[in-house]
Amino acid sequence: MEIQTDFLVLGSGIAGLSFAIKAAALGTVAIVTKKEKFESSTNYAQGGIAAVQDEEDSFASHIQDTLACGADLCREEVVRFVVEEGPARIEELVRWGVQFTRREEGGVRRYDLGREGGHSRRRVLHAKDLTGREIERALTEYVSGKKSVHIYENFIAIDLIMRRFLAGGGDSAPDRCLGAYVLDLQNDRIHAFRAKYVIIATGGCGKVYLVTTNPDIATGDGIAMAYRAGARIANMEFIQFHPTCLYHPDAKSFLISEAVRGEGAVLRLKNGETFMEKYHPMKSLAPRDVVAKAIDAELKKSGDDCVLLDITHRDRDFIRRRFPNIYEKCLLFGIDMAADPIPVVPAAHYLCGGVQVNHHGETSIDRLFAFGEVSCTGLHGANRLASNSLLEAVVFAHRAFVRLQSELPQARDEDIPIPPWDPRGATESDESIVVSHNWDEIRRCMWHYVGIVRSNKRLERAHRRIELISREIDDYYRNFVVTRDLLELRNIATVAAIIIRCARMRQESRGLHYNIDFPDRDDIHWRRDTVIVKP
Ligand code: FAD
Ligand code: SIN
Repeated sequence: MEIQTDFLVLGSGIAGLSFAIKAAALGTVAIVTKKEKFESSTNYAQGGIAAVQDEEDSFASHIQDTLACGADLCREEVVRFVVEEGPARIEELVRWGVQFTRREEGGVRRYDLGREGGHSRRRVLHAKDLTGREIERALTEYVSGKKSVHIYENFIAIDLIMRRFLAGGGDSAPDRCLGAYVLDLQNDRIHAFRAKYVIIATGGCGKVYLVTTNPDIATGDGIAMAYRAGARIANMEFIQFHPTCLYHPDAKSFLISEAVRGEGAVLRLKNGETFMEKYHPMKSLAPRDVVAKAIDAELKKSGDDCVLLDITHRDRDFIRRRFPNIYEKCLLFGIDMAADPIPVVPAAHYLCGGVQVNHHGETSIDRLFAFGEVSCTGLHGANRLASNSLLEAVVFAHRAFVRLQSELPQARDEDIPIPPWDPRGATESDESIVVSHNWDEIRRCMWHYVGIVRSNKRLERAHRRIELISREIDDYYRNFVVTRDLLELRNIATVAAIIIRCARMRQESRGLHYNIDFPDRDDIHWRRDTVIVKP
C-alpha cells in the first residue's frame, strides 16, 4: 500500500516530535516509529537540557564550554546560534507542557539548575532525574492533539526511496528523496510512504557496542539508511563513552547521571582512593572523554572490574529528592547510594558524528532532513558537552521548520510511480542463529577493538572482521524475508563499518578518538571532519 503525506518523520524522540508539532501547521505529518511512541533515548535522558537561564551565566560562557569540550572541531557559528536560541526553545517546551523542576529562592520560583561535566556554571534544566521521560510525556501528549499528525507505532523504516533508483528516475532531473519503505511489524506488511520531505530523527547507535547506556532502539538505522541512499556521513569516530553506567550483572544499560557528580559525588578506586586529580583540574567533573579515559586507564592498571561513585557525604533526603529514579533503581539492585558508593563502568553513550547537515538540518540529499542524535551539525565537534544534545535537537527541529515554511509552497509533487516493495523471492529464514551470532560478534568486536582506546592494529582487525560479517549479512538479507532483527543487524553492521572507516582515516588523537599509534593532536592535517559517502 502507498501512504502519502507532506512530511514523513522517522522517529518519535525529542527531534521527531518537536518537529512534528510545528510541521502540523504546514501540512500532513506521518511519524513512523519502530516501537511504542515514547520508546527512544530521549525517554531515558536523566541530567537535563543545557541552556543559559541564570543572570550570572552568559551565552559567552556556554559557548566557551561547548568549544572547549569539542577539542577545536566544533563549528563556532553553530555553537553560537544553538546556545543563543536555547532559551526560546526552552520556553516553547514549557508551553507544550514540560515541567522542569523549580525551587523557591527569595520568594521567587526559579528553575533548579544542575551542573554536569565540562560546564563551568549551573545551567542544566531538569525534571529531577527523569528529564527525558517528562519531555516524552509532554510532547507525545501535545502532538496527539494535532489532527494533521498520524503516528504509526511498531513501524520500522527499511530504506529511503530515491528518485534515481526508480524506473524513469534515471533521467536528467535532479535526484531526491521521495519517501521510505516501512515494515509494519504487527502485520508483516511493507508499505511505501511517499512524502514531499523526509526527516530522519532516528537517534543514535549505542547498540553497536556491547556495553551501552542506550535503549534497544539505538541501532543506527537512520545513519545506515542515509548512507545507502548516498548522503554524506561525518565524524563517526567520535563515540562518546559515558563514564558512569551502573555495574551490576542484572542491570541492563542503567545510567548514573553526571548530575550526581554535579552535586558533589567523587570517583574512587575500589580501595577508596580518589584518582581524577591526576587527570584534570576539574577532577570528577572533568569533560566526559577525560573521565572515561581515566577510568579505563585505572581499571587496566588495577585489574578491577569497576570504579566507585561516592555521594555518601550528601544527606539521604537530598539524594532521594534530587535523584529519585537513580536512588530507587540502585536499591532494587541492593545498593543504598546514601550509604555505599555505586559501582560504575564506562559505556557507549552518544554519537557525535552522523548524517552531515547544514544550519537548517538539510542533508546532502534534496528533500531529506536529519536532526537529533542521528545528525552531525557541527555543534559537538570531537566531544559533546553534557546536556547539549536535547538542546541541539529542538534548535535544529525549529530551524528546519522555518526553512520548510518558506520552501513548502514551491515544493513540486513528484508524479513518478513508486513500485511496491519487491521481496525478490525471499523465503522465511530457517537459520535465525546467524542473526543472533553476528549481532553478538559485531558488538563484542566494536567494544574490544574500537572502544575508548584504539590502535592501528585493533582497527585493522575490526575492519577485517566486520567486512566478513557484513558480506554474510548481505547474503542473508538478499535471500530471506525481512524482519526487525535482520534489519537492525544489517544496520549495526553498516554503522560499525562506517565508524571503523572514520577511525582509521583520522590519524591523530582528538576528543573522543584516542589512538595509541597517533597519540597527539595534529591541527595541521586533522582540524577537519572525516566525511564518508557510499562508493
Ligand atoms: P531518540 O530519542 O533516540 O529517538 C529516536 C526515535 O527513532 C525512536 O522513537 C526510535 O524508535 C525511532 N527509530 C529508530 N530507528 C527507526 C526506524 N528504522 N524506523 C522507525 N523508527 C525508528 N542528552 C542530553 O542532552 N541530556 C541528558 O540528560 C541526556 N541523558 C541521557 C541518558 C541516557 C540514558 C541516554 C541513552 C542518552 C542521554 N542523552 C542526554 C542523549 C539524548 O537523550 C539523545 O541524544 C536524544 O534524546 C536523542 O533524541 P532523538 O530524538 O534524536 O533520538
Ligand atoms: C547524564 O545525565 O549524565 C547524561 C547527560 C548527557 O548525556 O548529556
